[in-house]
Amino acid sequence: MAGKKHYIIHTAEDIEKIRIAAIAAATVRKQLPPLVKPGMSTKQVDDLAGQLIAATGGSSAFLGYHGYPGQICISINDEVVHGIGRPEVILQENDLVSIDIGVKLNSGIGDNATTFVLGEPDNDTARLLKYTEKALYNAIDKAVKGNFIKDISSAIARTAKQARLGVVREYVGHGCGLALHEPPEVPNFVSSFRGPQLRPGMVLAIEPMFNLGTYKVMTDRDKWTVRSRDGKKSAHFEHMVLITNNKPEVLTWQKM
Ligand code: MF3
Ligand code: CO
Repeated sequence: MAGKKHYIIHTAEDIEKIRIAAIAAATVRKQLPPLVKPGMSTKQVDDLAGQLIAATGGSSAFLGYHGYPGQICISINDEVVHGIGRPEVILQENDLVSIDIGVKLNSGIGDNATTFVLGEPDNDTARLLKYTEKALYNAIDKAVKGNFIKDISSAIARTAKQARLGVVREYVGHGCGLALHEPPEVPNFVSSFRGPQLRPGMVLAIEPMFNLGTYKVMTDRDKWTVRSRDGKKSAHFEHMVLITNNKPEVLTWQKM
């Protein structure tokens, strides 16, 4: 693979653009969940997300990406990622809802995701949510210069193991910034892949996807919707992180 770029160091100027897009994506990630209610169709959620994205001054980074038809991804219950908002899919009480938001703004890209329940989670769902999010924060702690991608992957895998959750392998985190998907890949599992060493200016979208049952997934006939093979629930949390000379900076942080 001589000559192939394995990672991108962003310039200070580009980082400013990425920072603004990331804040826009985080704003929508924060605004949307309280507006999502049982009885709404997932298409209505997608439309609403489109309005919130437009209000940031940006546009969807997903719409049209490899032909993707939605503004955001909305994945319910056993759906893992890349669910498309549909007028005939009506949200129910206790549904587990993952939203994945990508915003393009002034040539920067922001990408982040969260998962929540429409109601009170049962014990298994609560464990799934708690440890998928915890895996993300454990991973962010390892996003420091001098570490390798593998250190991030192993923090995620370790957290899943503790909580007896299945780790999705077919989809991984990624570099992000001026394109939605930049090198390197950021797997949520450990393999012989060590990946590049982390350096200041790298921006990583870290996104654990955990299942209550099997790690195995399948894709619907719509060619997008990914779901767990055993029909058990799945959760997904994602942040974009800038590697610095000091502590990792979560670009999609949004206090409210
Ligand atoms: N956050 C997801 C990813 O990084 C969303 C991609 S959806 C797509 O892969 F539609 F844009 F493909
Ligand atoms: Co992503």
